[in-house]
Amino acid sequence: MLSCFLWIFSFTISFTAYSISQMSQHAANGPPITNTDDAIFYDPERVFAPSSLDDIRGLIHKARKNGHKVRPLGSGHSWNTMAVSDDIYISLYNYRGLVNVDTDRKQITVRGGTRLWELNRYASKYGLAMTILPSITNQTIGGAIATGTHGSGIKYGSLSSFVVELELITGTGKILTLKRNDTRLFDAAGVSLGLLGIITKVTLQCEEAFNLLEVRHTYSLQHCLDQYKDIVGSSQYVKFWIEFNSKACAVYTVNRTTEEPRNRPPQPLSDILTVILELFQLFFSVFPSTANTGMKLLFKYADVLPNQIRTDYSFNVLPIPNYIDEYHTEAEFAVPYDDCSRAISDVLRVKDEHNIPLNHIIEVRFVKGDSFWLSNEYQRDNCHVTLLLHNPSDYYTRLYFNTYYQIVLKYGGRPHWGKVLAMSPDEARRLYPKLDEFIEVYRKLDPDRIFANDLLESILGV
Ligand SMILES: Cc1cc2nc3c(=O)[nH]c(=O)nc-3n(C[C@H](O)[C@H](O)[C@H](O)COP(=O)(O)OP(=O)(O)OC[C@H]3O[C@@H](n4cnc5c(N)ncnc54)[C@H](O)[C@@H]3O)c2cc1C
Ligand SMILES: *[C@@H]1O[C@H](CO)[C@@H](O)[C@H](O)[C@H]1NC(C)=O
Ligand SMILES: *[C@@H]1O[C@H](CO)[C@@H](O)[C@H](O)[C@H]1NC(C)=O
Ligand SMILES: *[C@@H]1O[C@H](CO)[C@@H](O)[C@H](O)[C@H]1NC(C)=O
Repeated sequence: MLSCFLWIFSFTISFTAYSISQMSQHAANGPPITNTDDAIFYDPERVFAPSSLDDIRGLIHKARKNGHKVRPLGSGHSWNTMAVSDDIYISLYNYRGLVNVDTDRKQITVRGGTRLWELNRYASKYGLAMTILPSITNQTIGGAIATGTHGSGIKYGSLSSFVVELELITGTGKILTLKRNDTRLFDAAGVSLGLLGIITKVTLQCEEAFNLLEVRHTYSLQHCLDQYKDIVGSSQYVKFWIEFNSKACAVYTVNRTTEEPRNRPPQPLSDILTVILELFQLFFSVFPSTANTGMKLLFKYADVLPNQIRTDYSFNVLPIPNYIDEYHTEAEFAVPYDDCSRAISDVLRVKDEHNIPLNHIIEVRFVKGDSFWLSNEYQRDNCHVTLLLHNPSDYYTRLYFNTYYQIVLKYGGRPHWGKVLAMSPDEARRLYPKLDEFIEVYRKLDPDRIFANDLLESILGV
């Protein structure tokens, strides 16, 4: 019982959907399609969920003509207001599903609103699988690509790096189809924050379906910091969960295997324990001052367990299984791979010296460089340091983001576009040398700036 509990605990420490506003809730329930009515634009709180390309284009044409702002909306799983519109939303809720499978090339084409878990199902039906996946799979493929969503494995880039073709509806209602050989536009559109257009169709490079063997070891924090390159190089996918109160570092190493799935927790028990864990998380979030002690205890018990081993389908191993709703916030910074342990040490030193709130784990992941202008991975391999916080107030969220952002800036740390976010356009320009070129492309594709919102104006100056 205890071991099963901890098994599940070790995979479910966190992760909830923080819905940015009621808008996303609304979208998740399937908003009304009322795009035939001009009056729709008078209600600033309206979400439209067109189900055809023509309807999406029609909405954009009308918005442009009537001087409205539009934000594309995926599943609302971002920790910032990038998807928020004070005018209208175009939700991709009704624009999802499989378009095509090319089994020879192992490529799959889906509509922009397709959830990652749906994508996994389609792929698996045709004997294919995505090479990487993020921790949860409820995001839309369009939203995931727009923010540079990634998994962990230094040999693999973010989801955007698996895109072979992209269809966008620009701010003038034009349909743009980009292939990898359209280098300039493709590099701009690979991670585009929903500015270059609404992503309506994506073709992704998959591979043959595969199983994964995962092994979890718990080491000392110092061991992880000293040896991270050896550890990361040792397996195909590697991530760390650091519990800094006990200076413990849980290392997840994962390789492809021909073995069949085994060591899955029994279903009804796993459901019950997931609920128990959810209660723990809820408790920590309501009483954040207990979280440090609570996390330490939970890790201590996880630590006395023998190493955990399991084999399963790739799409069950790469995301966190037994996803539970929990009330937490994440700030995530991508620092150069070579600076990984220095950056983490600095973060922990400042936490101790200044008592800046941190009461969850630090998750560390590794992502290969790419060529997308606004990608965290632009022209460098990265170590992603994610600082999780149990139920902070707005005040603490700002304080902890600003504090740790200043620390990682020393290393050129780039904040994740889908997490807590703030920066000045000057900083953005330093972090992303191609920002001006991106803005140039943006102005061409969206001359009336219908896709801009407050956050994007303040951080990019678009
Ligand atoms: C619990 C949790 C776990 C997470 N785990 C990871 C992780 O492991 N790795 C990681 O990298 N990230 C992770 N994230 C971040 C998440 O993947 C991103 O925030 C992603 O953008 C969410 O997708 P979405 O469909 O909800 O997009 P939304 O939040 O709805 O939108 C995000 C941005 O994309 C734009 N957008 C949405 N759809 C489109 C479209 N079709 N065309 C153009 N622009 C669009 C929106 O306007 C907005 O700017 C996690 C988030 C949560 C809440
Ligand atoms: C979230 O993903 C799970 C599969 O991982 C799925 O069963 C569930 O329905 C999804 N929820 C939403 C709101 O899409
Ligand atoms: C890109 O490749 C496609 C064929 O896949 C071709 O039709 C197109 O002209 C090429 N575009 C450029 C810019 O080279
Ligand atoms: C993955 O494979 C490498 C090389 O074959 C090996 O050293 C490592 O221990 C493996 N990791 C796991 C989790 O099996």
